[in-house]
Amino acid sequence: MARILQFNIFRYNPNDPDSKPHLQSFYLDETPNLNLFIALNRIREEQDPSLMFDFCCRAAICGACAMVINGKPGLACKTKTKDLPEQINLLPLPGFKLVGDLAVDTGTWFRAMNERIEAWVHSSKEFDPRAEEERMDNALAEQIYELDRCIECGCCIAACATAQMRPDFLGAVALNRIARFILDPRDERTDKDYFEIVGTDQGIFGCMGLLACEDVCPKNIPLQDQLGYLRRKMGIAPVKNYLSWRKKK
Ligand code: SF4
Ligand code: SF4
Ligand code: FES
Repeated sequence: MARILQFNIFRYNPNDPDSKPHLQSFYLDETPNLNLFIALNRIREEQDPSLMFDFCCRAAICGACAMVINGKPGLACKTKTKDLPEQINLLPLPGFKLVGDLAVDTGTWFRAMNERIEAWVHSSKEFDPRAEEERMDNALAEQIYELDRCIECGCCIAACATAQMRPDFLGAVALNRIARFILDPRDERTDKDYFEIVGTDQGIFGCMGLLACEDVCPKNIPLQDQLGYLRRKMGIAPVKNYLSWRKKK
């Protein structure tokens, strides 16, 4: 027999002075292959057109539909109701500005993060649009691509206790991105440059290493490996710097 699902959904409109944060319950018949994205659309179409939530791709690519699903950050479009109990609690991702109900503004946070770590290839070469593309070793290109699969959903930030307590903490997403640029031979930044960005308490040395970030990443990005790699690399960077300074003297 099909289950009747009970959705307890966070409701609050910060732009409405009369709105108060509360949970509102909705009920839906479970249909085969129902996922939370379809369920939320059905609730909005059939029961409450004012319900706010974000989506775009429906295919775990845009990262817009991230929310807290029964206590764990995840993507609504990638979560099937058959994998959840009959009671489903949905909250907005913490750590981001609330737009309303389940919708949060991750874009402003990610833009600031990308500007802070200068998330682009730093090259002294002048760009020549007529030049042939430079070849890159396939294995290396795949290694970079593996880390570049981040969809900026914000789940790792929502799950990270350090990021929740300290808004200046860069978080696993930024640390993973720096690891990606360190791999890239086109980026001319040195270990010293990277150390200035992530070799701090707001960066890799603020990370507690308990790996909630990796547990919730919907793209299974190997965050644990990147955090370990950066911790080692940034740990020895000052020593290497000191030794090269001694050599020059
Ligand atoms: S391992 Fe580091 S980045 Fe990941 S959740 Fe823990 S503190 Fe946050
Ligand atoms: S690292 Fe994973 S959890 Fe974090 S923003 Fe990227 S895709 Fe989302
Ligand atoms: S709608 Fe794009 S990731 Fe879910």
